[in-house]
Amino acid sequence: MTPLGRQPARRPTAVLRRGAVLATVPAALAALLGATGPTPAGTAGASGAGDPYFPLSGNGGYHVRHYGLTLRYDTSSRHLDGRAVLSACATQNLSRFDLDLKGLKVTGVTVDGTPAAFRRAGQELVVTPRRTLRAGRDFRVTVTYDGTPKPVTDPDGSADGWIPTDDGAFVAGEPQGAMTWFPANSHPRDKSSYDITVTVPQGRTAVAGGVLLGQRTEHGRTTFHWRETEPTAAYLATVTIGKFKVEQYTTHDGIHVYNAVDPREASAAAPVLKKLPSVLAWESKLFGPYPFRSAGSIVDHAPDVGYALETQTRPLYDSAPDLSTLVHENAHQWFGDSVSLTAWKDIWLNEGFATYAEWLYAEQHGGDSAQKTFDALYARPANDHLWAFPPGDPGSGRNIFDTPVYARGAMTLHALRKAVGDRDFFRILRAWTAGHRGGHGTTAQFTGLAERISGKRLDGLFHTWLFTKGKPNSA
Ligand code: ARG
Ligand code: ZN
Repeated sequence: MTPLGRQPARRPTAVLRRGAVLATVPAALAALLGATGPTPAGTAGASGAGDPYFPLSGNGGYHVRHYGLTLRYDTSSRHLDGRAVLSACATQNLSRFDLDLKGLKVTGVTVDGTPAAFRRAGQELVVTPRRTLRAGRDFRVTVTYDGTPKPVTDPDGSADGWIPTDDGAFVAGEPQGAMTWFPANSHPRDKSSYDITVTVPQGRTAVAGGVLLGQRTEHGRTTFHWRETEPTAAYLATVTIGKFKVEQYTTHDGIHVYNAVDPREASAAAPVLKKLPSVLAWESKLFGPYPFRSAGSIVDHAPDVGYALETQTRPLYDSAPDLSTLVHENAHQWFGDSVSLTAWKDIWLNEGFATYAEWLYAEQHGGDSAQKTFDALYARPANDHLWAFPPGDPGSGRNIFDTPVYARGAMTLHALRKAVGDRDFFRILRAWTAGHRGGHGTTAQFTGLAERISGKRLDGLFHTWLFTKGKPNSA
């Protein structure tokens, strides 16, 4: 899917063919001249992706196809050396563009090998290439940088980004922390593949998403090379570093599993991680085929973080997860990772679905029925925080990880399931993951799909559960 707002690359030949009849002769001529003539003037790319909750997250004017990150981290001095190579494509005639990067020192920027002018403005790294980049053209940006990465504080007060630990770093990025460790088009509207090469002191392990292509120890340092080929939002990339016990195997379904566990969490984590293959198999049955080739877990010992993150292919936990959390973060691989948001206000598409996966898991594994979980929540009085705002319209970035998004978001799905019946409900979920796989989805697309598959009018239900303030009158 083409993310909203990103213009498909316009190649002049296509313009001529499509526009030949409609365009005036001078316009067609101009298009032809544009293909070969002098560089067009171009305009500056926007400083944000247009998301009102995080106006500076992401950037306009280009799409990043691939990030090649080469990093070196000294766990004692906490110094990071980085080189980022972004393979991008201009979506407008681009005289200038921004990358998101917060903190750190930029020592050089090139565009297609030619040094480019750059300056810092808050979280924007503003790059002016020597020549305007023509719309539709691929280009390559290289940024060298270093310094001591620091986390950002999110509107809800949580730490996000590169979070140092006693033996390395817990590296999460939702919603805006990616910019604390690499220059990026850091909004889920832009998805890319990644190659991440990290060098750390021998004895430490650096874990990213995807497949470990190689690992080499030399002169007291170990280098890990990770590759994720599936489209990934910047917030779902990680390079978590620590002293980890590593376990690798392939599941019956051919998924490569890589688990990295802090020894302090190992005994608590073991019985839960053992269930990963069966959880993935169960989720695949309900949600459709697992969307990636690799899977796993990073279980860190980072007691101050206070949350887990569904990093793509390999969720990241701040301590040994319980089974429900494992189910939740892996459900996100379908809902959030493979099918991504185009705006943070749609966050219930991630958190409501991952929470409902927990309810379904309990229901089908000898725990409470989803109905019982729903009823217990619905019994909460009208002044309970659960009803503080509707999940389809959280109002600001401060609320995106709050209870109404998770719990009332899941209640919305339960209300849908009751309205359409189990058969259509699970058909809707599978059509959603299949139809938007590797791309994006919006709330309106989901509600439209639910109506099409069920053949029912559901606008009242969604209006009540997703968009109406206060406790819904009828369950
Ligand atoms: N998406 C994560 C989850 O599954 C929560 C991330 C919270 N991040 C934050 N900066 N507070 O629940
Ligand atoms: Zn979640």
